[in-house]
Amino acid sequence: MANKIIVLASGNPHKVKEINEIAKGTGIEFVLPTGEFNPIENGLTFEENSLIKAKEAARISGKISLADDSGLCVEALNGEPGIYSARYAQTPQERINKLLKNLAPFGNRKAKFVCAMTLVNEKGEILHQVLGECHGKITDKQSGTNGFGYDPVFMPEGYNITMADMPEEQKNKISHRSIALNRMLDFIQNSNI
Ligand code: IMP
Repeated sequence: MANKIIVLASGNPHKVKEINEIAKGTGIEFVLPTGEFNPIENGLTFEENSLIKAKEAARISGKISLADDSGLCVEALNGEPGIYSARYAQTPQERINKLLKNLAPFGNRKAKFVCAMTLVNEKGEILHQVLGECHGKITDKQSGTNGFGYDPVFMPEGYNITMADMPEEQKNKISHRSIALNRMLDFIQNSNI
């Protein structure tokens, strides 16, 4: 049974499932906020946006809350789409098409997925903040149907398949989110919250 319950600042049941899967066996369980969760994500960095979401979850729940904010940063595009990853174009397929088109003139295909996580107390004060990164490159063509977002065009370093070609368990071992979460879980397990 979980002995630490933490609110996950998200409206996405898929995210809470994925995070609880990674946290299995730690005694920590994440639950979605009850009530309307509508943070205004107007920060300029992943860290700022994760703090905005964590504070909003603590405000509505009155409980210790964790938030993540993530995206894809492409070196030749000066870090774009970055914090605008979810809003780069209207649909997931249009976002991939736009990325491949904008990157077409460049030989440098280096990119990284970044995930910032912020844990706040009941009052919305920062307890801990971590960053996880997964480095790789953008492929010329998309491949694979697993995962979501930019997974079909992201090939992690040391692999010759895209993240969308990988089974979920394999992605969960190397993803920016799992790296950040494992750092955060270490902190939570070693603290007396
Ligand atoms: P969020 O902050 O986790 O909601 O992620 C914001 C956006 O970044 C998503 O809508 C995706 O476009 C992109 N993104 C974040 N994580 C991933 C991932 O693991 N795979 C593919 N795209 C991702």
